[in-house]
Formats: sequence, structure tokens, C-alpha cells
Amino acid sequence: MKFSVIPEPLQMETGAEPLFTLTRLCEIECDSAGEKAKKNLLKFLGDAFSMEVLGTGRERVVLRLSEEAMPDEGYRLTVRDHEAVIVGGTERGIFYGVQTLKQLLLQGELSLPRIRIEDSPRFPYRGFMLDCARYFFTKEAVFVFLEMMAMHKLNKLHLHLSDDQGFRVMLEDNILLTEIGSYRSHTNFGKVPHSGFYTKQDIREIVAFAQERCIDIIPEIDSPGHSVSMIAAYPQLSCFDRELTVATGWGIKHDVLCVGKESTYDFIFSVFDELMELFPGELIHLGGDEVPTMRWELCPHCRKKKEEMGLQSFADLHTYYLGRVAAHIESRGRKAVMWNDRPKEKNVSKSVVWQLWNSEMSHEEAVAEMNSGRDFIISCSDAYYLDLPYALTDLQTCYEFEPAFEGIREPSRLMGAECCLWGEYVPTMAKAGYCTYPRLGAFAERVWSAAEKKDYTHFCGKLENYYAMLDCFGIDYAKMSRAMPGALSRMGGRLYWERRKLHWGGLHNLIDDFTVKNKYTIKEKKQ
Ligand code: ACM
Ligand code: ZN
Repeated sequence: MKFSVIPEPLQMETGAEPLFTLTRLCEIECDSAGEKAKKNLLKFLGDAFSMEVLGTGRERVVLRLSEEAMPDEGYRLTVRDHEAVIVGGTERGIFYGVQTLKQLLLQGELSLPRIRIEDSPRFPYRGFMLDCARYFFTKEAVFVFLEMMAMHKLNKLHLHLSDDQGFRVMLEDNILLTEIGSYRSHTNFGKVPHSGFYTKQDIREIVAFAQERCIDIIPEIDSPGHSVSMIAAYPQLSCFDRELTVATGWGIKHDVLCVGKESTYDFIFSVFDELMELFPGELIHLGGDEVPTMRWELCPHCRKKKEEMGLQSFADLHTYYLGRVAAHIESRGRKAVMWNDRPKEKNVSKSVVWQLWNSEMSHEEAVAEMNSGRDFIISCSDAYYLDLPYALTDLQTCYEFEPAFEGIREPSRLMGAECCLWGEYVPTMAKAGYCTYPRLGAFAERVWSAAEKKDYTHFCGKLENYYAMLDCFGIDYAKMSRAMPGALSRMGGRLYWERRKLHWGGLHNLIDDFTVKNKYTIKEKKQ
């Protein structure tokens, strides 16, 4: 048996002959910092081996804090005669040592040779984003993602909780957001209605499940764009009090929140206040991406706000809105994160973290922005958007992409990276698994493993063990023939992807823009 770990540890040595077997008689000893790790290990032994550990024998697993200095999330795993010992820099380090041990126990069917591993992460922010707005993923499905994130040593789950196609967290102060906004009459996959949202109890359970796995949750409410589900619930949030239904198809919608009315700010502040009661983590995501300004250009409230604030353009009005929402989040002691579309958004306070996702901002511009004091999370879409077909972003592309740019003066400004599973084409867990794995393994090697450990051939050699691990957990994935498609399937995959543009090819938006423009310009003239 060839033992291997994904993400690749900093140093790993293994012997050949088994000298330690974890049986139900094994003692699992831990100090208080090792409690989480022990609980996770016991659950794993139950799930994967139907084993309940009794702890009366000679073999033992020891989980404890290191006595000497060690990186926070670092650990050392030593397997020798009769014992496996994990020491960590903090409880998180011990927890990651156990994640490594779990992979090895699966490979050795509970028997291990002499092993010595020294390990610690490259970046502090190692994220995965789940879009539960397009399609709702149940609480149980989120648990599955969290368990797999832990196995990959990822520590930030970003939940994209709202979009044009759905609002997914119950907020009592604005209850119609879920009563109306969580339901759409049909989706891109046929004429069946789709709905679902998390209750407060669900969120509490998700947060607790994540905390037990050393994962912070970053909740996102996306505005002022991507907000049709909110407008469907409360039409007064839009520029012309338009009565819309929750979006059924995809693409950038032209109806966005009216940022001229003060009542919109009251609304969004109350949404974030209630959200922050539910999610205790430091980072709160305010969205902010893809905001067309054509409604604002016609709207008397937005025009007036632009004048009053002395803003040059409607793009500046976008920045003004983001700045106010971010300041509100910060006034509650949290840190705001936003998608970054363009260098124009520079005027947003430096304390707001930018999630870099598209190519409108070059890497040089991002570095200049980091050097002027802003923190970044890297989610470049061509490598880290897991919904893209393998025909566009194959496994190797995802593996090879470097989430690090030249010329950053303070390296800690680059917090790390996040890969994103957008939901537009992901209606089921089977599809989610297919899109996510094995790319999540490749991504984990970029954010956890040291840069000099990058070796795609070596990574491919570990996939047999990796796939066996996914099989053990009943997780769907793309086999290598799909993850690295041949020329013909690449072409087919690209065509299938481009086809989606036909759904929202702009015709509907064009007609709608024309109607709005005529309706409101004519009304204005009559007055
Ligand atoms: C995004 O992909 N619109 C953040
Ligand atoms: Zn307006």
C-alpha cells in the first residue's frame, strides 16, 4: 500500500511494515485542546468502519498541544510501535493532524507503518463557497460539504444565501424575504417549482457543526444587484416599485435595489443586523457584484442621491452604496467582504476585504491595491469556479493556478483563496459532487500545501486513494476521463456551456428596458 495525503504535507516519511493497528480496544487520549479532534475521529471510525472504540488495550492514539512552538494550524503526526501521536500548535493543528490520520487509516484499513509527518498551511484563508440561492441545499447537504471541507483542511465556508433566484435564510424582521423570496415557479431544468430556506434553528446547527470542524462561516446577502428575490418580496426596494417575481432564468438582471431611497438603507441594515445575530464569525459578505445602472439613471431618487452626494457617475453611486453597507457592518464590530468587479470600486474603505473573481481587475492592479492596504481573497473564475465545466477548467488548470502574485509588500494582505460552486447548473448533490471533486483536492493543494510542493504528476498518482476516500463517504465525483476531457468532449462541453447564454441572451432584458424607459419617461413628461 502506498500511503498518500491530499493536500500534500510539508514533510512526510513512511515505513513499509505495519506496526500500529487501530482496533476497538485502542485508547484515545487527549488534552482539552484535542477534544474536537477526538470527537471527529470517533465519528469517522463509526461512519467508515462501524467501530465503537472501547479504550482498554495497549494501543493508543494521543492528541495534544505541542510543548514547543509550532504554527497555529500546524501539527506533527508520529506513528510508532503501539501508538499514533498527534501534537498541534493549537486545537486546529490537532484537528488537521486527525484529518491526515483519517486518510491514512482508510488507506491502511486501520493498520499503519512507521510514519512521521510535519505539516502546516500556506494560507490562513482556505475557502469554499456554496451557492444555495439558485438551488437550495438542505442543512444535511451542508453538513456533507462541511465534513468534506474538514478532510481537505479548508476552514472558511462562504454561504451565498441570496440571489435573483432565491432568498434562503429566514429573517423575522423581513419575513417576506423567505415567505415570497424563497420560492420560484420554475427553473432552468423544467417547469417544476423550487423553494427552500434555512430556519434559525437550521443556521444554529450549521454554525455549530462547522465550529466543531474548525470552520468559520461567511454569510453573504448579495446587493444592490442580484436582488430580484428581495424585490419580489418588497417591491418598494426597487426604483419604480416594480412588482416582480423571483427570477426563474439566469443572467445579470437590470432590476436592482434603488440606492436613492433612504428606506433601502434601513432595510438592508436590518437584514444584516439580524444576519449577524445568527452568524458569529468575523467576516460578513455584502455581495456587490454585477450591478447595471440603467434603472438608477432613470430613477428620480437615485438621480437626486447622486447629485446630493456630488458623485460623478452612477458607478460611483454603486460605490457609495457599498461603502455605507460596509460601514454599517463594521459599526457592529465585524469585517466586510465584497466581490470586486472593477478597479473603479477603489473608493470603498480599505478595511473592506475584496474577493477578486474576474479579469476586469488585472493582477497588477490587485497587487497595487494590496500595497495600498487592502486584504484580498483570490477566487479567479477561470481556475476556481467549480461550476465551470471541466471542458473549460480542467483538473490541471485548477491545480496549476497560483493564488499568489508578484510584488506584494506585506504578504499577509493576501489572506488566501476560495473556490466557488455557483449553483446555476447544479440542481442536485450528485452534480455538486461531480463539479467539486477532484478539483477541491487540487485547490486544497494550492491553499494548504507549500508552493514548492506543487507537482501535478505526483498529485495524479494520489487520486486512486482520494477517489477511494470519496467512495467511502458516498460522495459523487468526476473520474479522471471527465476531469481531463479529450478534445472532442472539450468542444462539446464548451458548446453546452455557451448554450446557457441563449436562455438570457438579453432579448428579455432589452424589451424590459424599453418598456421601463417608455413607461417612466412618458410619466415624467406628463407630470
Ligand atoms: C460573480 O461571479 N458574479 C461574483
Ligand atoms: Zn432608484
